Amino acid sequence: MKNYWSCGIDEVEGWLSQGIEEPLTEVDRFQREAGILGSVMEIGVHQGKFFIPLALLKRPEEYALGIDLFEDQGKNIDGSGKGDFGAVSANLEKYVQERSRVELLRRDSLSLTPLDKVEFLKEYGPFRIVSIDGGHTPFHTVNDLLFVQDILQSGGIVILDDYYNLHWPGVHEGVARFFLQNTPKIRIFCYTQNKLFLTDLSHYRRYFTLFQKLFSSKENFKKVRMWDSEAVVY
Ligand SMILES: C[S@@+](CC[C@H](N)C(=O)[O-])C[C@H]1O[C@@H](n2cnc3c(N)ncnc32)[C@H](O)[C@@H]1O
Repeated sequence: MKNYWSCGIDEVEGWLSQGIEEPLTEVDRFQREAGILGSVMEIGVHQGKFFIPLALLKRPEEYALGIDLFEDQGKNIDGSGKGDFGAVSANLEKYVQERSRVELLRRDSLSLTPLDKVEFLKEYGPFRIVSIDGGHTPFHTVNDLLFVQDILQSGGIVILDDYYNLHWPGVHEGVARFFLQNTPKIRIFCYTQNKLFLTDLSHYRRYFTLFQKLFSSKENFKKVRMWDSEAVVY
Protein backbone atom coordinates (compact mmCIF):
# COMPACT_ATOMS: atom_id res chain seq x y z
CA MET A 1 0.00 0.00 0.00
CA LYS A 2 1.58 3.28 -1.11
CA ASN A 3 1.64 6.32 1.13
CA TYR A 4 -0.64 8.93 -0.33
CA TRP A 5 0.97 12.14 0.89
CA SER A 6 4.53 11.10 0.01
CA CYS A 7 3.85 9.87 -3.55
CA GLY A 8 0.15 9.36 -4.37
CA ILE A 9 -0.68 13.03 -4.52
CA ASP A 10 1.81 13.39 -7.40
CA GLU A 11 0.65 10.24 -9.17
CA VAL A 12 -3.13 10.78 -9.16
CA GLU A 13 -4.46 13.15 -11.81
CA GLY A 14 -6.50 16.08 -10.52
CA TRP A 15 -6.23 19.39 -8.68
CA LEU A 16 -4.91 19.50 -5.12
CA SER A 17 -1.90 21.08 -3.49
CA GLN A 18 0.20 19.35 -0.87
CA GLY A 19 -0.52 22.23 1.51
CA ILE A 20 -4.01 20.85 2.15
CA GLU A 21 -2.57 18.01 4.25
CA GLU A 22 -1.89 20.27 7.24
CA PRO A 23 -5.30 21.95 7.69
CA LEU A 24 -7.08 18.68 6.89
CA THR A 25 -5.07 16.80 9.50
CA GLU A 26 -5.75 19.52 12.07
CA VAL A 27 -9.50 19.44 11.37
CA ASP A 28 -9.50 15.67 11.80
CA ARG A 29 -7.50 15.94 15.04
CA PHE A 30 -9.87 18.59 16.41
CA GLN A 31 -12.93 16.53 15.48
CA ARG A 32 -11.51 13.40 17.12
CA GLU A 33 -10.72 15.29 20.33
CA ALA A 34 -14.15 16.95 20.36
CA GLY A 35 -15.96 13.66 19.68
CA ILE A 36 -17.36 14.88 16.37
CA LEU A 37 -18.27 11.75 14.42
CA GLY A 38 -19.56 11.45 10.89
CA SER A 39 -18.96 10.30 7.37
CA VAL A 40 -16.87 12.08 4.74
CA MET A 41 -17.99 12.98 1.25
CA GLU A 42 -16.90 14.69 -1.95
CA ILE A 43 -19.08 16.06 -4.75
CA GLY A 44 -16.87 16.06 -7.87
CA VAL A 45 -14.28 13.32 -7.56
CA HIS A 46 -12.57 13.30 -11.01
CA GLN A 47 -9.90 10.60 -10.40
CA GLY A 48 -9.90 10.78 -6.59
CA LYS A 49 -7.04 13.17 -5.85
CA PHE A 50 -8.85 14.71 -2.86
CA PHE A 51 -11.35 11.90 -2.26
CA ILE A 52 -8.51 9.51 -1.40
CA PRO A 53 -7.16 11.52 1.57
CA LEU A 54 -10.75 12.01 2.75
CA ALA A 55 -11.34 8.26 2.58
CA LEU A 56 -8.09 7.72 4.49
CA LEU A 57 -9.50 9.79 7.37
CA LYS A 58 -12.66 7.78 7.76
CA ARG A 59 -13.03 5.67 10.88
CA PRO A 60 -14.27 2.04 10.51
CA GLU A 61 -17.89 2.86 11.36
CA GLU A 62 -17.96 5.91 9.05
CA TYR A 63 -18.59 6.05 5.30
CA ALA A 64 -16.65 7.81 2.55
CA LEU A 65 -18.99 8.76 -0.27
CA GLY A 66 -17.77 10.06 -3.64
CA ILE A 67 -20.44 11.61 -5.87
CA ASP A 68 -19.75 12.35 -9.53
CA LEU A 69 -21.42 12.25 -12.93
CA PHE A 70 -18.76 9.73 -13.94
CA GLU A 71 -19.72 8.43 -17.42
CA ASP A 72 -22.77 10.73 -17.55
CA GLN A 73 -20.53 13.58 -18.81
CA GLY A 74 -23.28 15.03 -21.01
CA LYS A 75 -24.49 16.72 -17.81
CA ASN A 76 -21.08 18.27 -17.08
CA ILE A 77 -22.38 21.54 -18.47
CA ASP A 78 -19.37 23.70 -17.66
CA GLY A 79 -16.74 21.06 -18.46
CA SER A 80 -15.21 21.03 -15.00
CA GLY A 81 -13.00 17.94 -14.89
CA LYS A 82 -14.17 14.54 -16.08
CA GLY A 83 -15.06 11.92 -13.49
CA ASP A 84 -13.66 8.48 -14.28
CA PHE A 85 -15.16 5.63 -12.23
CA GLY A 86 -12.48 3.12 -13.30
CA ALA A 87 -9.61 5.45 -12.49
CA VAL A 88 -11.05 6.36 -9.08
CA SER A 89 -11.58 2.68 -8.23
CA ALA A 90 -8.01 1.79 -9.27
CA ASN A 91 -6.59 4.72 -7.32
CA LEU A 92 -8.57 3.75 -4.22
CA GLU A 93 -7.20 0.23 -4.49
CA LYS A 94 -3.65 1.61 -4.63
CA TYR A 95 -3.83 4.03 -1.72
CA VAL A 96 -6.71 3.09 0.60
CA GLN A 97 -6.32 -0.17 2.48
CA GLU A 98 -9.62 -0.05 4.40
CA ARG A 99 -12.17 0.15 1.57
CA SER A 100 -15.28 -1.16 3.29
CA ARG A 101 -17.86 1.65 3.46
CA VAL A 102 -16.05 3.58 0.71
CA GLU A 103 -18.72 4.15 -1.94
CA LEU A 104 -18.93 5.88 -5.32
CA LEU A 105 -22.26 7.21 -6.48
CA ARG A 106 -23.05 8.28 -10.05
CA ARG A 107 -25.29 11.31 -9.63
CA ASP A 108 -25.81 14.80 -11.00
CA SER A 109 -25.65 16.94 -7.85
CA LEU A 110 -28.35 19.17 -9.36
CA SER A 111 -30.70 16.17 -9.19
CA LEU A 112 -30.30 15.76 -5.42
CA THR A 113 -33.63 16.38 -3.63
CA PRO A 114 -34.79 16.91 -0.04
CA LEU A 115 -35.69 13.21 -0.02
CA ASP A 116 -32.04 12.41 -0.82
CA LYS A 117 -31.02 14.38 2.27
CA VAL A 118 -33.18 12.05 4.35
CA GLU A 119 -31.92 8.96 2.51
CA PHE A 120 -28.28 10.05 2.90
CA LEU A 121 -28.73 10.68 6.62
CA LYS A 122 -30.40 7.27 7.06
CA GLU A 123 -27.73 5.47 5.03
CA TYR A 124 -24.52 7.28 5.99
CA GLY A 125 -25.41 9.40 9.05
CA PRO A 126 -24.43 13.09 9.17
CA PHE A 127 -21.17 14.13 7.50
CA ARG A 128 -18.18 15.63 9.32
CA ILE A 129 -16.08 16.61 6.27
CA VAL A 130 -17.54 17.42 2.86
CA SER A 131 -15.60 18.64 -0.18
CA ILE A 132 -17.57 20.47 -2.87
CA ASP A 133 -15.77 20.38 -6.23
CA GLY A 134 -18.37 19.33 -8.82
CA GLY A 135 -19.97 21.69 -11.34
CA HIS A 136 -18.49 25.19 -10.98
CA THR A 137 -21.43 27.37 -12.12
CA PRO A 138 -23.17 29.63 -9.57
CA PHE A 139 -26.16 27.26 -9.74
CA HIS A 140 -24.12 24.16 -8.86
CA THR A 141 -22.33 26.06 -6.11
CA VAL A 142 -25.54 27.30 -4.43
CA ASN A 143 -27.25 23.93 -4.94
CA ASP A 144 -24.35 21.95 -3.48
CA LEU A 145 -23.87 24.27 -0.48
CA LEU A 146 -27.60 24.17 0.34
CA PHE A 147 -27.70 20.38 0.06
CA VAL A 148 -24.63 19.82 2.13
CA GLN A 149 -25.37 22.22 4.98
CA ASP A 150 -28.46 20.15 5.83
CA ILE A 151 -26.62 16.84 6.10
CA LEU A 152 -23.63 18.23 7.98
CA GLN A 153 -22.83 16.93 11.45
CA SER A 154 -22.83 19.60 14.15
CA GLY A 155 -19.16 20.62 14.12
CA GLY A 156 -18.60 19.20 10.65
CA ILE A 157 -16.89 21.25 7.95
CA VAL A 158 -17.44 22.02 4.26
CA ILE A 159 -14.44 22.60 1.96
CA LEU A 160 -15.34 24.45 -1.23
CA ASP A 161 -12.82 24.48 -4.08
CA ASP A 162 -11.83 27.30 -6.45
CA TYR A 163 -13.26 30.34 -4.63
CA TYR A 164 -10.53 32.62 -5.99
CA ASN A 165 -9.78 30.75 -9.22
CA LEU A 166 -9.92 33.23 -12.10
CA HIS A 167 -10.91 30.44 -14.51
CA TRP A 168 -14.01 29.52 -12.47
CA PRO A 169 -15.76 32.76 -11.45
CA GLY A 170 -19.04 30.86 -11.05
CA VAL A 171 -17.90 29.57 -7.66
CA HIS A 172 -17.33 33.10 -6.36
CA GLU A 173 -20.69 34.25 -7.70
CA GLY A 174 -22.35 31.17 -6.22
CA VAL A 175 -20.96 31.92 -2.75
CA ALA A 176 -22.24 35.51 -3.01
CA ARG A 177 -25.69 34.24 -3.97
CA PHE A 178 -25.60 31.66 -1.18
CA PHE A 179 -24.96 34.30 1.46
CA LEU A 180 -27.13 37.08 0.01
CA GLN A 181 -30.19 35.06 -1.00
CA ASN A 182 -30.32 32.66 1.94
CA THR A 183 -29.80 32.77 5.68
CA PRO A 184 -27.22 30.02 5.86
CA LYS A 185 -26.21 28.36 9.08
CA ILE A 186 -22.63 27.81 7.95
CA ARG A 187 -19.86 30.42 8.08
CA ILE A 188 -16.41 30.78 6.51
CA PHE A 189 -13.53 30.38 8.97
CA CYS A 190 -10.61 29.93 6.55
CA TYR A 191 -9.41 30.27 2.98
CA THR A 192 -6.25 28.44 1.99
CA GLN A 193 -4.94 26.16 -0.82
CA ASN A 194 -7.60 27.52 -3.20
CA LYS A 195 -10.34 26.30 -0.83
CA LEU A 196 -12.89 27.90 1.50
CA PHE A 197 -13.48 26.21 4.84
CA LEU A 198 -16.93 26.58 6.44
CA THR A 199 -18.60 25.20 9.56
CA ASP A 200 -21.86 25.67 11.43
CA LEU A 201 -22.35 28.83 13.45
CA SER A 202 -22.17 26.97 16.76
CA HIS A 203 -18.66 25.71 16.01
CA TYR A 204 -17.40 28.62 13.91
CA ARG A 205 -15.56 30.40 16.76
CA ARG A 206 -13.73 27.22 17.83
CA TYR A 207 -12.42 26.48 14.34
CA PHE A 208 -11.51 30.11 13.71
CA THR A 209 -9.58 30.36 16.99
CA LEU A 210 -7.83 27.04 16.35
CA PHE A 211 -6.75 28.00 12.82
CA GLN A 212 -5.62 31.44 13.99
CA LYS A 213 -3.41 29.80 16.63
CA LEU A 214 -2.07 27.10 14.31
CA PHE A 215 -1.36 29.12 11.22
CA SER A 216 -0.55 32.67 12.36
CA SER A 217 3.15 32.11 11.60
CA LYS A 218 2.48 31.32 7.93
CA GLU A 219 4.07 33.80 5.55
CA ASN A 220 0.81 34.98 3.97
CA PHE A 221 -1.30 34.84 7.13
CA LYS A 222 -3.96 37.52 7.58
CA LYS A 223 -7.26 37.85 9.40
CA VAL A 224 -9.96 39.15 7.06
CA ARG A 225 -13.74 39.61 7.10
CA MET A 226 -15.63 37.43 4.64
CA TRP A 227 -19.40 37.23 4.47
CA ASP A 228 -20.13 38.39 8.02
CA SER A 229 -17.37 36.50 9.76
CA GLU A 230 -13.68 36.75 10.48
CA ALA A 231 -11.60 34.26 8.53
CA VAL A 232 -8.00 33.12 8.54
CA VAL A 233 -6.35 33.33 5.13
CA TYR A 234 -2.87 32.14 4.25
C1 LIG B 1 -12.69 19.82 -10.91
S1 LIG B 1 -13.15 18.15 -11.06
C2 LIG B 1 -12.92 17.55 -9.42
C3 LIG B 1 -11.50 17.47 -8.99
C4 LIG B 1 -11.27 16.57 -7.81
N1 LIG B 1 -11.96 17.01 -6.63
C5 LIG B 1 -9.80 16.43 -7.50
O1 LIG B 1 -9.46 16.31 -6.31
O2 LIG B 1 -8.97 16.38 -8.41
C6 LIG B 1 -14.91 18.28 -11.18
C7 LIG B 1 -15.63 16.94 -11.15
O3 LIG B 1 -17.02 17.22 -10.97
C8 LIG B 1 -17.78 16.36 -11.78
N2 LIG B 1 -19.05 17.06 -12.04
C9 LIG B 1 -19.29 18.09 -12.87
N3 LIG B 1 -20.58 18.47 -12.80
C10 LIG B 1 -21.17 17.66 -11.88
C11 LIG B 1 -22.49 17.53 -11.37
N4 LIG B 1 -23.49 18.31 -11.80
N5 LIG B 1 -22.75 16.59 -10.43
C12 LIG B 1 -21.74 15.77 -10.00
N6 LIG B 1 -20.47 15.83 -10.44
C13 LIG B 1 -20.19 16.76 -11.37
C14 LIG B 1 -16.92 16.11 -13.01
O4 LIG B 1 -17.25 14.90 -13.64
C15 LIG B 1 -15.52 16.12 -12.42
O5 LIG B 1 -15.10 14.81 -12.08
